[in-house]
This record gives sequence, structure tokens and C-alpha cells, in this order.
Amino acid sequence: MMFKLVCINCKSEYSLDEIIYRCEKCNNLLEIQTDLEKAKELISKRTLASKPLSVWKYSDLIPVFDRNKIVTINEGGTKLYKCSKLAEELGIKKLYVKNEGENPTGSFKDRGMTVGVTKAREFNVREVACASTGNTAASLSAYAAKAGLRGIILIPFGAVAMGKLAQSIIYGAKVIAIKGNFDEALPLIIEASKSLGLYLLNSINPFRIEGQKTAAFEVCEQLDCHAPDRFIIPVGNAANISAYWKGFKEFYELDLVKNLPKMVGIQASGASPIVQAIKEGRDSIKPVDNPNTVATAIRIGKPASWKKALAAIKESKGCAESVSDEEILYAQRLLARKEGLFVEPASASSIAGLKKLIESGSIDKDEEIVCVATGHGLKDPDSALKFYQEPIVIEPRSDMLKEVIKN
Ligand SMILES: Cc1ncc(COP(=O)(O)O)c(C=O)c1O
Repeated sequence: MMFKLVCINCKSEYSLDEIIYRCEKCNNLLEIQTDLEKAKELISKRTLASKPLSVWKYSDLIPVFDRNKIVTINEGGTKLYKCSKLAEELGIKKLYVKNEGENPTGSFKDRGMTVGVTKAREFNVREVACASTGNTAASLSAYAAKAGLRGIILIPFGAVAMGKLAQSIIYGAKVIAIKGNFDEALPLIIEASKSLGLYLLNSINPFRIEGQKTAAFEVCEQLDCHAPDRFIIPVGNAANISAYWKGFKEFYELDLVKNLPKMVGIQASGASPIVQAIKEGRDSIKPVDNPNTVATAIRIGKPASWKKALAAIKESKGCAESVSDEEILYAQRLLARKEGLFVEPASASSIAGLKKLIESGSIDKDEEIVCVATGHGLKDPDSALKFYQEPIVIEPRSDMLKEVIKN
């Protein structure tokens, strides 16, 4: 067998034909392990070079067994932008931004969702569900629609950016809002999924990670077969950082790259349990009650994948940093105005974290750095309108227009 489903803690093994999200013995999360020796027979730099970037380019490394069931909207293949103007502003030499907002629903979630919804079809389920701060919901709704499945999403009432909510509504999912936050929504949907037989597509689903890890493969290919020195990523429920780390390690073990990056997790100051654990040298997190930040996508106080995230940061000899809302909004503006990239506030936290780490001397100016921009700015137009200057309103008169332009 090329793939195994294994507990991250006690290493108990489960059948890949079983719908299961946590270890029955120790309740920890599960992960897919790939037999990379076997995979070496299928994948080489030469075979990779002949195909364009996309999630399914790496199908040999993804545990899907019936390729006729693949549900795709052309996810992946997002660009890696060389950001020389921003690098100069920050005083570093080589900076790239992986712009995951270019995915079909505007965030990295589509990479995991194409695999997750494909598994739902393999498992023959009819209903898929998630709790979400907005982007997972938008993605699930789109892929459920494409697959002809019923999508059910649970969101925190009044705390999801308008663009994301509009997406879930237009794709036709059943949208339910709780009077509570994401940390309260997740256990509720897990329980409902178990009792009602819904297939759960939150990132505790190990197949989601298998899709998300392909972004790391793409970064390595886009850098001509090496990993960056440092990789900086926003952290919320903490799955994506572990997915990237898994991807980098797999490419390394496949001999496709010769180095591994230091992984840097960035959280908002009002929702930073992972940063606190790393800074205090703890092996576990202390959940944050009432998490708060303008970056609603990462407004999470009790990240489900915290153990995987701590492992990624420690194994890679990386670090973690928190950033204030002001720093996030400043970074959002900087990226837009220096590089023409409009990303949502959560995504800008990677740039804000980079700036802070440079200023504190924790990052060497010669390092090659990749920051991930996880979601498109148009998903959250409210925050741009609320925090930036409103348009100047004038009468429809030529003299007034010229006057305003000159000033
Ligand atoms: C735009 C954006 N950035 C970052 C994250 C955090 O990813 P993760 O929850 O896997 O840590 C999310 C999660 O919803 C997101 O939507």
C-alpha cells in the first residue's frame, strides 16, 4: 500500500476505507503517511517538468483511488510573485509571495477541498459539512455544488466577511450561523456530523491536508527545485502550516529538493495560543477565550491542529510571532501599494510578521523568504472600506474635479 492512515501521537493505524478523524485510542488527529520509496518510482524532476502546476499534477502523492471521481475546478497553479519593491522597503534581498487568492474560490482552502470532496464521492456520502470562519465554507459550498452534494456550513454569527458569506449563499449551501465563535462551532458540527452521517470537511480531515501540501510542492518547483530559507504563514486553526511542512518534507525525502525551510507561524495578537506556547517553550497550548482580531479568518483561540503546528515549527527550527491589528492593516496596505496584491487581512499577517521579525533582528537580511497570502482581498471589502480613506464626493462639475485632482 502506498498510503497509511496513522495517529500522530500513538501511531495506531486505521483503514483508509474508514471515515474517521481522530484516533480511537488517544483522541489525537490522524495523518496520511506516504511510502516515499515507492513514490520515487513514479515521480522525478523530469516527469514533473513536463506538466503545468496544479493540485492534481501531484496525484501520485494524493490518496485518491478512483480518479474518475475527482471533483476539480482547476485549483492550484497559483503564482509566486517576486516582490522586489516590498523587499527593498523592508530591507531584505529576496522576497516572494505565494498568492493563494488566485484559487477558484479565492483562498488556499480549494486545494484541500478538491481532495476532500473527491473522498466524499469515493465514500459515497451525499452530505458534506464544516464549521468555518468563512473561507472553508465558501470552498466547501463550491465543491459540493460541483459534485452535486448537499453542503452544510456553520459559521459564527456576524463574524464572517461579507464576500465569503455571499459565496456560500450563491453556491447554494445550507448556511447556519451560531451565536458564538468558531471554537464553539467546531465541536458542534463534529458532533452533528457523527450523529447525522455528514462527511466532515474541516481541516481535521486528513485528506484535506493532502491537497493543501501541494502548495509546498509548487513553491519548490517555482524556485527551480529548492525550498526557501524561510517560509512565513498565517496560522488560525493551524492545519495549513502543517500541510506545507508535510509537503516540503515529502519533496525533500523524494530527493526533489536538497533543503528544508524554517517554518514561521504568524497569529493575530488577540488569537495567538500557538505563538504563546512557542515563546514560552511549552509542548501544548493554552486556549484563548474570546479570541479577537480584525483578521476574522484567523480569529481562533483553540486551534484543532495545534500539535501538528508546534511540531512543524520545532522540527524546522522555525519560530512564531504575533502581530497587532494595526500591524496587519499596515502590511495589507503595503503589499497592495508596493506590489499590486490585494489580500485579506489574515493573509497580510504573514507580511506583518515578516516586518516585525526583521525589525527585531530575528531574520537575516540575506535569507530567501516566501510569505503566503492565503486569501483574496475582495473577500473582505468591509475591512478595506472601514479602515481606509473614503472616496471624495463632488458635484458633477469639471471645475470641482480639477480642483480635487490638483490638491
Ligand atoms: C485567509 C486565511 N488565512 C489563514 C487561515 C489559517 O489557516 P489554518 O486554519 O489552516 O491555520 C485561514 C483559515 O481559515 C484563512 O481563511
